[in-house]
Amino acid sequence: MKLPELGESLPPAQPSPEAVKLLALRRSTPADFLCAPGPDAPTLTEILTIAARAPDHRRVTPFRFIVFEGEGRGRFGETLKAAFLANDPGAAEARIDYERDRFMRAPVVIAVVSRVDREHRTPEWEQLMTAGAVGQNLLLAASAHGFAAQWITEWYAYDENVIKALGLEGNERIAGFIYIGTAKEAPKERARPDLQSIVTYY
Ligand SMILES: Cc1cc2nc3c(=O)[nH]c(=O)nc-3n(C[C@H](O)[C@H](O)[C@H](O)COP(=O)(O)O)c2cc1C
Repeated sequence: MKLPELGESLPPAQPSPEAVKLLALRRSTPADFLCAPGPDAPTLTEILTIAARAPDHRRVTPFRFIVFEGEGRGRFGETLKAAFLANDPGAAEARIDYERDRFMRAPVVIAVVSRVDREHRTPEWEQLMTAGAVGQNLLLAASAHGFAAQWITEWYAYDENVIKALGLEGNERIAGFIYIGTAKEAPKERARPDLQSIVTYY
């Protein structure tokens, strides 16, 4: 995909029935139902490039990515295992193995790290929302490239030992782990918000 040059004129809208369909049918695939293949290196770069194109008030870039793939997932598994055992030293072997192998559920896992610049005049709330938009863009970009995905936090997004092992700074938090791969089986539609109960007209 050719990316625009800085300052290049861009169409203000991109009417696309295909994009409308993608958005209307977007559905997460639970991590337990993911398998290989995942995106190759150039495709992953394109997915991350699209994800990083989220709305960002005053261009703070209040986020970053950590990519887990290949053996890196297994290495991180040892961190998960140690963190889990620190919380539950008497856990059963099978449960410990399950926690260690969480990142093995998908060929690629992306941590979206929210990174707030507290000195910046863009409010923290807006910077946090940008990280959320990045996560959603990541899901959409994965889907448009033919991959299933799920946004997960689970316990380890909030675990002090895991956060330390990932090298997060005091102004950083895990917005989510986006698991990306191929669906073993098609997900079913789930209930969606009733528009009448969430829309008012002023
Ligand atoms: C910030 C965030 C954290 C989430 N964490 C989890 C999680 O830990 N486990 C889970 O099953 N779903 C989690 N979800 C929800 C799933 O990603 C997904 O949205 C849900 O299964 C519904 O599917 P849908 O995306 O097709 O609506 C999270 C979503 C968000 C936005």
